[in-house]
Amino acid sequence: MTAKSMEQLVALAKRRGFIFQSNEIYGGLQGVYDYGPLGVELKNNLKSIWWSSMIYERDDIEGLDASILTHSDVLRYSGHEETFTDPLIDCRSCKYRCRADQLVDGKCPNCGSDDLTEPRPFNLMFKTSVGPIAGDDNFVYLRPETAQQIFTNFKNILDSSSRSLPFGIAQVGKAFRNEITPRNFIFRVREFEQMELEYFVHPAKDQDYFNEWVQTRLKWWIDIGISEQNLELYEVPENDLSHYSKSTTDIMYKFPHGTEELEGIANRTDFDLGSHTKNQKDYSLSATVLSNDKSNSKLAINDPESKEWVIPYVIEPSAGVDRGVLALLNEAYTEERLENDDTRIVLKFNPRLAPIKVAVIPLKKNNSEIVKLAHKIKDSIQSLRIGRIVVENTGNIGKSYRKHDEIGTPICITVDFDSLENEDVTIRDRDTMEQIRQPISKLSEFVKHQIK
Ligand code: GAP
Repeated sequence: MTAKSMEQLVALAKRRGFIFQSNEIYGGLQGVYDYGPLGVELKNNLKSIWWSSMIYERDDIEGLDASILTHSDVLRYSGHEETFTDPLIDCRSCKYRCRADQLVDGKCPNCGSDDLTEPRPFNLMFKTSVGPIAGDDNFVYLRPETAQQIFTNFKNILDSSSRSLPFGIAQVGKAFRNEITPRNFIFRVREFEQMELEYFVHPAKDQDYFNEWVQTRLKWWIDIGISEQNLELYEVPENDLSHYSKSTTDIMYKFPHGTEELEGIANRTDFDLGSHTKNQKDYSLSATVLSNDKSNSKLAINDPESKEWVIPYVIEPSAGVDRGVLALLNEAYTEERLENDDTRIVLKFNPRLAPIKVAVIPLKKNNSEIVKLAHKIKDSIQSLRIGRIVVENTGNIGKSYRKHDEIGTPICITVDFDSLENEDVTIRDRDTMEQIRQPISKLSEFVKHQIK
């Protein structure tokens, strides 16, 4: 099951502390969200599973954490100054602003008027200035994609890691876009995170690697808990491709508001490395790039077969962290009718993604022996370093189970009077609600086995 509506997810996310409207106490900032205590755990778990799959479980990818502030020349030669725009339309009747593709039958989506301005290009990049005096000479951009700083670090990483083709550089971090109409909760926002891989390949092998990465990334989303029937591949038509792309396949997910892009896999050819390279005419570039007399670097690699310098092609799987969180919340959301006709809401996360892995619940709030044992159990499971473990000392076992079902905690451990005598506890499974008795001495082994 998934959520029936975005409203259900928004309400749960706020009620339980996953996601809040940013700057809410001053009326909120549109298109910006904050991740609360559970949201930050979920998001970190998602990012760390991605990082692990890219950097630790393979041998051909290096990591990077580059700056957000970006030299304007980087985004000039990357083509973003010129082309990173959306067509903006104003309604003369109600003053509503929207993107041209959001008109409804050629009319204003807000008031229905057809008294509209012509579409004009609106650049989505945020600008700020460095140093105390703002001016045209010292402005920088907040990066609109994490990718560009991977390209500008290509030579640094190549020189320090002695890589040969194919190899990749991966990065997770913030990106900023001044979206004309942010909407659908965390789906389209102005400040978001991306998980991006730039995979450098020999130009003759681009299509094989492109196809391989589409399948690898699709499988990854299924492996972490997105059901296959809610995912589909969409080949972006030629006239919709980004300025750098030869071909792009989007992994689309059935979000509550409709089926839209979760991740894009693009063949960026030699466009980016070629754009940022000095003496471009020394290479036979396939892409058309701006002539660059500012870069001081050669972003090429020596081909051991031909002994020639080649500018590699780039295959780029680029996933949105926030869209990933939204998809995972939606997938996990389940409403179940119980035997007594009550309804329970459960977030059936893959245990690796669950914000809290184990809740230890003392049966009696004020019994110091039981509470002390609960904390001891918490500390011992916490030392496994599998994520966050909590002691839930509300004194109301039913309420605690309901809460932990609703936030997706896979295991609840109840400590009661018998635990003091017999050194055992009750373990409750989130999905089946089955309860079993286990010796305290076997808990670590049990939990490790469940949360893998
Ligand atoms: N480097 C390539 C690139 O940035 P993109 O298709 O513009 O390509 C990649 O963005 C991913 O970033 C998207 O698939 C989406 O998941 C996420 N993304 C893009 N714009 C976003 C926005 N305004 N809000 C949330 N996520 C966004």
